[in-house]
Amino acid sequence: MSDLSKPKSENIVWHAETVDRARRAEAMGSRGAVVWLTGLSGSGKSTIARRAEELLLARGVHAYVLDGDNVRFGLCRDLGFSPADRAENIRRVGEVAKLFADACVVVLTAFVSPYRADRDAVRAMLAPGSFFEALVDTPIELCEARDPKGLYGRARAGLIADFTGISAPYEAPLAPELRLPTADEDIDACAARVLQALAEAGVIS
Ligand code: ADX
Repeated sequence: MSDLSKPKSENIVWHAETVDRARRAEAMGSRGAVVWLTGLSGSGKSTIARRAEELLLARGVHAYVLDGDNVRFGLCRDLGFSPADRAENIRRVGEVAKLFADACVVVLTAFVSPYRADRDAVRAMLAPGSFFEALVDTPIELCEARDPKGLYGRARAGLIADFTGISAPYEAPLAPELRLPTADEDIDACAARVLQALAEAGVIS
């Protein structure tokens, strides 16, 4: 893959904004942030993200979900599940999430994002206090028992290569801002934890 750490062209010039983040935050009613949900397939990332989105919208906060499966139907439809493709998936989504946060939207991302280095690269893109890494902490036995999409069964049967937790690794965050223990707490409680963290950090009031 080509070097994605800098633009391919040397003939581009950054165009400075005339409306700054503070003015946007005033207009939007929040300063925006990225809540990065990471965890195994079937752990509950998308469900928690959708519930948190509903709670935020009900409070008048602009919120939006970027979902792993859905993004792979469009922006990332050219990517598979090799480590390099996952890194590119997370890089692209990180850039999109950064734009949402800059637009003062609270963006909730639901991606397996199994590699620590990929998640840390997204963290490094964002201003301190704008990135909330949330580990959706569901034991693999529970994810496999739920198997909402039938993928664990297919992976165990050798029909899906590089399946996270079965034939590919999951590197849990070492110091996530949030831990959402779905085996012990229901979806509402986990979503409430997300809002509480945003409130404590002053992202929402
Ligand atoms: S990531 O690793 O690049 O972050 P992403 O969140 O976009 O993954 O997509 C994961 C979703 O794709 C899972 O929820 C699951 O439904 C599906 N999927 C298909 N193949 C795999 C695989 N090999 N490993 C993990 N998830 C897979």
